[in-house]
Amino acid sequence: MTTRHFLRDDDLTPQEQSEVLDLAAEMKANRFGYTPLAGPRSVAVFFDKASLRTRLSFEAGIAELGGQPIIVDTQNTHFGRGETLADAGRVVARYVSAMVFRTHGDERLAELASGVKVPVVNALSDGYHPCQLLADLLTIRERFGSTKGRILSYVGDAANNMAHSYLIAGAMAGMHVRVSGPSGFDPAPAVVGRASEIAAWTGGSVEMLRDPREAADGAHVIATDTWTSMGQEEDGKDRLTPFWPYQVNKELLAVADPSAIVLHCLPAHRNEEITDEVIDGPQSAVFDQAENRLHAQKALLTWLLAVNQQ
Ligand code: CP
Ligand code: NVA
Repeated sequence: MTTRHFLRDDDLTPQEQSEVLDLAAEMKANRFGYTPLAGPRSVAVFFDKASLRTRLSFEAGIAELGGQPIIVDTQNTHFGRGETLADAGRVVARYVSAMVFRTHGDERLAELASGVKVPVVNALSDGYHPCQLLADLLTIRERFGSTKGRILSYVGDAANNMAHSYLIAGAMAGMHVRVSGPSGFDPAPAVVGRASEIAAWTGGSVEMLRDPREAADGAHVIATDTWTSMGQEEDGKDRLTPFWPYQVNKELLAVADPSAIVLHCLPAHRNEEITDEVIDGPQSAVFDQAENRLHAQKALLTWLLAVNQQ
């Protein structure tokens, strides 16, 4: 049997995404009631890039599942100095029940996962942040009851991992996904194409809009992210001037649906992509969203372990 991994949002089907979110809600309601990693079985969590939420939510979540987290900052491994990721994966798979990897290029995840029989989870790559989207969709479900038919507007750096994951995972959840960013910071055309294809099956839709107010108009969810992702600090691009019209502030929020919530995966650059007033305001759901990383990832690991044992 082929091992099921979670390297991109669409490594689950829309139905499976919904099952994982149902399980996450159950696990949130009964936080210490599930111990599929009892033994303890171990899960290795590798970081090529910095983290707070991902690291802590996986470490706590694996422990809550009865397991043993092994957190590895990869600068202290052979990852970058000769040993191939494929060889490393084959070795580590002999020790653990699952692997989680935050890295740069998506090809690094594919290489770690090649030929291993334990699931590999993308904990953020240059291309996608699929665990974050499970938490975001769980938050949207909690606030609105369901995701289907809701308008999800992502405003800001439309070329980054979060934009790509909103496109794919939002379309999978049957949402009307709008993405708005400045010229030169558009999503990869292949990702837009894939999201549109998925939306056609789920009853959602996908729109690219240059005007952020048009994107925010009547939206149920306004989401944003940093204008400078990890690894882009020295890329020579002006990551402030073209982005100011895309700031999530009270003027932008005023054109959204009155029930709209605001999401940001964090860490936030306050008063750049989002104002203090909005992130600390009554429509902000960002701290529930951050908490939901824990529940969503516990459900994902539980689901992947079960499906790979069948
Ligand atoms: N949202 C998120 O992934 O946060 P960290 O970079 O702190 O893990
Ligand atoms: N786009 C951001 C997300 C951080 C959680 C980054 O990749 O740095």
